Amino acid sequence: MTLPLNILPFVHHLLSQHLQNGDCAVDATMGNGHDTLHLAQCVGETGKVWAFDVQESAIQTTQQKLKQHQLQNRVELILDGHQNIHRYIQQSVDAGVFNLGYLPNGDKNMTTHSETSLIAIKRILHLLRPNGILAVCIYSGHHEGKQEREVIEQFSGSLKQQDFDILRYQFANRNDTAPYALIFRKIRDVVLSME
Ligand SMILES: C[S@@+](CC[C@H](N)C(=O)[O-])C[C@H]1O[C@@H](n2cnc3c(N)ncnc32)[C@H](O)[C@@H]1O
Repeated sequence: MTLPLNILPFVHHLLSQHLQNGDCAVDATMGNGHDTLHLAQCVGETGKVWAFDVQESAIQTTQQKLKQHQLQNRVELILDGHQNIHRYIQQSVDAGVFNLGYLPNGDKNMTTHSETSLIAIKRILHLLRPNGILAVCIYSGHHEGKQEREVIEQFSGSLKQQDFDILRYQFANRNDTAPYALIFRKIRDVVLSME
């Protein structure tokens, strides 16, 4: 078997190891629904997934994908920015995933932004139950992505190790702008400033 070393396969592997039947998870950047579908498969029949995107086309594509796999009943697709997650989820969740940036072959103006991404990351970290994980895939090869990287790295560096384990998963022999992932594991409940 080939190990899933690339960023997205690694993140999917981690999520499938972590999530169990009946768990709850969030896809903060639905796009074409690959991560939403994966989460839906991981949480099983009694689990629940919420997926967010600001593009109507993302909702349609993902809805179709879920229907093909007969998994639409366990997923709520939300046409809104992930920074507004608190309006839709008031319970704790077991995992979350962000695939930042814009859709490959999509509209580059429809990219995620550092300010709203950071708010959403904080809100999901707040919702995570202890031992829950959040994977944030960062693409810093474009202007907004570079800012996101700076802001998210600065925030990660400010979190205490008693509160979160934070793993950086990155190729050591690729250029500096190659995609990488930050994996947050919550250790204990903590109040995060939304400033
Ligand atoms: C790299 S793509 C995600 C890829 C997706 N996970 C997949 O499996 O295809 C980033 C997505 O984030 C969406 N996006 C941008 N700003 C957003 C926001 N504030 N809230 C939620 N989604 C947003 C974009 O519309 C785009 O579809």
